Amino acid sequence: MTRTLKSILAVTLAVASLALAAQAQGSKQKMKTGKESFGKLPDGTPVDLYTLTNANGIEMKVITYGGIVTSLKTPDRSGQSGDIVLGFDNLQGYLDKSPYFGALIGRYGNRIGNAQFTLNGKTYQLPKNDGDNTLHGGVKGFDKVVWNARPLPVKNGSALELTYVSKDGEEGFPGTLTVRVVYTLNDQNEWRIDYTATTDKPTVVNLTQHSYFNLAAGAAPNNLAHEVYLNADRFTPVAKGLIPTGELKAVKGTPMDFTKPMAIGAHIDDNYDQLQLAGGYDHNWVLNKTGNGMTLAARVVEPTSGRVLEVSTTEPGIQFYAGNFLDGTITGKGGKVYVKRYGFCLETQHYPDSPNKPSFPTTTLKPGQTYKTTTVYKFSAK
Ligand code: BGC
Repeated sequence: MTRTLKSILAVTLAVASLALAAQAQGSKQKMKTGKESFGKLPDGTPVDLYTLTNANGIEMKVITYGGIVTSLKTPDRSGQSGDIVLGFDNLQGYLDKSPYFGALIGRYGNRIGNAQFTLNGKTYQLPKNDGDNTLHGGVKGFDKVVWNARPLPVKNGSALELTYVSKDGEEGFPGTLTVRVVYTLNDQNEWRIDYTATTDKPTVVNLTQHSYFNLAAGAAPNNLAHEVYLNADRFTPVAKGLIPTGELKAVKGTPMDFTKPMAIGAHIDDNYDQLQLAGGYDHNWVLNKTGNGMTLAARVVEPTSGRVLEVSTTEPGIQFYAGNFLDGTITGKGGKVYVKRYGFCLETQHYPDSPNKPSFPTTTLKPGQTYKTTTVYKFSAK
């Protein structure tokens, strides 16, 4: 072999092995869900932060405290990445005063009237943490516990499994509830949430996710320009304390009609009893469903950035909360003051107060059954 041939061969081999190494590194990075520390609770319990990424540059940060999504970066129509969720820069913010920013909610998302319910003839008394009612699982709901976390190997994007075992009697609810939530950020630009739970005694369950979105990623004064579509011909009107009356009311001819896209701000302050009672949109919409499968529940478009958020779910309802109770007293990430209606939530769920409303779809879970729901938040830009 001539010297030239030899050196050509050597260079070719070196290039090939470099390419292989890069490929291995790439697939490793793809599999990897980065983990770092996010501080400690006052009792010393460590809190970890995991970073999930997908092939299109979407990045989601999740902490083990409350399963909270602390940051979610998605591209706008020009490809510019921006953080579209509200939250804090550090753990202390979440511990001090957080209106459930980014958190997993349980055992019972939304309200249970008069902080009690009766199951199989026994009445269970729950903590009153919202006037006379129980909101989002009580004083220390699933948003305030530390979850076990484990990255799951997935071919498409990255995934994190969160598990928590809630003791029999925790926050007044019966039964040991074993909960598993998987967050998957896939390469179709979807954040998929799979919830499962089992119990050893009859109980009630209604799990949801409480991220506050602002698709303008800091570039708008509030959320009022977001255009919202809800796939719902009816909603559950509420009485004082935001407890449903039990009626399923048609949205047609009311400011609750989002069957055609409408800006959040278009009618939010109308002189309509439901809006006056709740201080804006803070209601459960009854999704138009044709079975138990996934249904498109909501689509939100932010006109200046072009970002679009689509929500699909197996759940029968969605709480559209317009952030009416934000009042400028919370300063979040990067010093941002969260003024009234800065962020909005789209919480997929069973209807509020179902344990006391026999006509609503049941939230009862019995031993031997598996609670199983899925919600997908899909991100795009137009
Ligand atoms: C409820 C609001 C409540 C908020 C807590 C939402 O799910 O619908 O009424 O104020 O959670 O921040």
